[in-house]
Amino acid sequence: MDKIKVIGEQTLSGKIYISGSKNSVVSLIPAAILSNKVIIEEVPKISDVSSLEEILKYLNVDLKFEGSSLHIDTSNMVNKDITNEYSTKLRASYYFMGALLGKYKKVVISLPGGCSIGKRSFDFHLNGFEKMGARVSNVGDLYTITADKLMGADIRLPFPSVGATVNIMLAAVLAEGRTTIDNAATEPEIGNLIEFLNNAGAKIEGKDTSKIVINGVDKLNGGKIQVIPDRIEAGTYILAGIMNGKNLEICNIRPDHLTSFFDKLRQMGANFEIRKDSVITNKVEHLKPIDVETAVYPGFPTDLQQPITTLLLMADGVSTLKETIYENRFQNTKYLNEMGANIVINEDTITVYGPTKLSGKLVKTSDLRAGAALILAALSAHGETTITDIKHLLRGYSDLIQKLTNVGAKMWLESE
Ligand code: EPU
Repeated sequence: MDKIKVIGEQTLSGKIYISGSKNSVVSLIPAAILSNKVIIEEVPKISDVSSLEEILKYLNVDLKFEGSSLHIDTSNMVNKDITNEYSTKLRASYYFMGALLGKYKKVVISLPGGCSIGKRSFDFHLNGFEKMGARVSNVGDLYTITADKLMGADIRLPFPSVGATVNIMLAAVLAEGRTTIDNAATEPEIGNLIEFLNNAGAKIEGKDTSKIVINGVDKLNGGKIQVIPDRIEAGTYILAGIMNGKNLEICNIRPDHLTSFFDKLRQMGANFEIRKDSVITNKVEHLKPIDVETAVYPGFPTDLQQPITTLLLMADGVSTLKETIYENRFQNTKYLNEMGANIVINEDTITVYGPTKLSGKLVKTSDLRAGAALILAALSAHGETTITDIKHLLRGYSDLIQKLTNVGAKMWLESE
């Protein structure tokens, strides 16, 4: 299995360019099947995209990359059962539920995969489909969802779930009549999807608000979209710059997507300067401890909770971090403690006792953002760190090693 080796304590200088957002592109690709010919620009080089490409090819969809633009042509597409060989490679495989149901009124699909960070049920998605007139049944892991006719419905989500908002929207675009989603997620990736669908002829209102209204249309005509910059990748490299940077510039970002993250960095006394579409970061000797609580957008993103934990290790005092979205998103702390940290877990909250001097160790990636937290730790640690199980990292960070070595990190991939 591949591993990453890192020699820590190198100064990072220069520019890192942020790629297209993972959580946007993984909904844009399944959404593309509702249309005939589409182009998705700024597609990141991550394995979640490769897994979606495999599903599209299996469904006889024609694909072609020109640089980072993905051209998708669904003229010869066929609806087939998506078995666990395809579905378990990533979470977002379940967006084919909404998309295939919307297009063919029938989908047979196995359970999705993705990071093991909590229960991650998808009952809101299924309840939404049922409200629109679909029937849902399952035998073991295989779900069959069918509808004679999909009808617009008024749906109120019990929690502003990103996945449920996307999936219901995908089913509703070609349904008959008007669908409303109340208490919808407002994450910027949802806005990117709305823009894409509307470019292709959908009628969706309420972008960036918690009430989305979808007026069903008969068909979508080709469209084009640029994937927004990945705010979590940006946050990860900004943290690297605050820990080890000397004029490290993180470029191609949307600062307005990172407001609550910047607020926390400011509270800590971090050294960073926000420009129009970049941030310049510098290491400071002393950081203040803070309290962080994750929340839905625009609150502090759960996907930056594990990465910022590594920064909290450097603060002069005791910080706390409360995770409110997932039940099991502290698996990074075990390995950080092995590297010299003192982090105590108490139910949904961790207490981080800083400051800590980390030392290089053999550590294992349990999930995507835990992997990011360990990369950040390895970049700061004294000596050599070996990070195993890096498949999780490759799901979400485009050209990770190249981007970091370009700015001075000493790290490399070792294959066995
Ligand atoms: N939930 C339910 N029932 C549902 C749907 C959600 O109980 O039907 C619960 C979940 O169990 C979870 C919470 O609601 O506790 C939030 O789930 P949400 O549906 O919002 O998350 P998601 O769609 O599964 C996406 C991202 C995650 C990101 C979250 C929150 C994708 C593919 N994944 O997940 O990204 O953490 O939104 O912003 O878009 C990552 O990138 O590392 C990652 C995990």
